[in-house]
Amino acid sequence: MKHCYLIGIGPGHPDFLTLEGLNALRCVDLFLILEKEGRGKDELTALRHDILQRVRPDGGYRELSVPSPARPRAVDQDAAAYHAVVDAWHAEKRRLFRGVLERELADGEAAGLMLWGDPTLYDQTISMLTRVVQELPEPLGLSVIPGISAVQVLCARHRIPLNRVGESVSIITGREAEQVDPASVHNTVVMLDYNASFRRFVGQDMDIYWGGYLGAPDEVLVAGRLDDVHDELLRLKAALREQKGWLMDTYLLRRRGTDEG
Ligand SMILES: C[S@@+](CC[C@H](N)C(=O)[O-])C[C@H]1O[C@@H](n2cnc3c(N)ncnc32)[C@H](O)[C@@H]1O
Repeated sequence: MKHCYLIGIGPGHPDFLTLEGLNALRCVDLFLILEKEGRGKDELTALRHDILQRVRPDGGYRELSVPSPARPRAVDQDAAAYHAVVDAWHAEKRRLFRGVLERELADGEAAGLMLWGDPTLYDQTISMLTRVVQELPEPLGLSVIPGISAVQVLCARHRIPLNRVGESVSIITGREAEQVDPASVHNTVVMLDYNASFRRFVGQDMDIYWGGYLGAPDEVLVAGRLDDVHDELLRLKAALREQKGWLMDTYLLRRRGTDEG
C-alpha cells in the first residue's frame, strides 16, 4: 500500500521540527515540493532543502519540485465569488496530488509534503488529500504530523500566553479583519493579512503583538498600544517589503483593561 505523510515543519527554521516530524521525514521515499510564486519562494524552498540536508544527509529519496497552482488573490470579491475561486484552486491542487500519487509513487512507497507551520492551521492540504484518498482506485494511507505554527512562535517570542484567564481566542484572516465589527474583537490573531488591517482597530484601546518572518534569522517583532505603534508598523512593513520583496506576518490584537496580570 502507498502512504502519504503531511509533515508540519514549523514556520521558518529547522529548529521547529518535532521528533515526530523528523521520524516521518526519514520514512519518505518521494518528497513533493510545491514551489510557490513570488519573490519569497526561493527562501521557502531553501528551508525545505535545508531540512532535508540535515535529516537525510545521505539522500536515499527522490524529490519532485513542481510549480504550485497560484493562490487567487480575491480579497475584493464577495464571499460567494471568493469561495468559487478558492474551490477552483483546490480542485487544481487535488489533480496535481492525484497525478503524483498515481504516477510517481510505487506500491509500498511513501510520499511526503513538508507543510509550513502546522498543517491544521490555514492550510487545506489535509482536506484535499483526504478527498484524493477517497477518489483513488487503490488504498492510500495518510498521516498528519503536527507542527509548530506561526501563532505559537509569535506568542513565545513576545513572552505572552495566547489567551488570558478564561478568555477565548479567535484566529481570523486579514480579509475577515476588514469586515468584522472592531468592538467584537477582544483577543484575536490575524493571519494572511495583505492590507495592514490592524488600522481598522485604532482607537479601540488595544495592544498589538506583531511578528514578521517569525523564526527566521531576520525575524522582526513589534509590541505596544496599537494607537501608539500603528504608524511605525506601517512604515516598518513597507520598508521590509521594499528590502526583501515579500513579507509574512502575524499579529495578535488584544483589548486592554482586562488583563489579570
Ligand atoms: C497559509 S497560512 C499558513 C499558516 C501555517 N500553517 C502555520 O501554522 O503557521 C500563511 C500565514 O501564516 C502566517 N505565517 C506563516 N509563517 C510565518 C512566519 N514565519 N512569520 C510570520 N507569519 C507567518 C502569516 O500570517 C501568513 O500569511
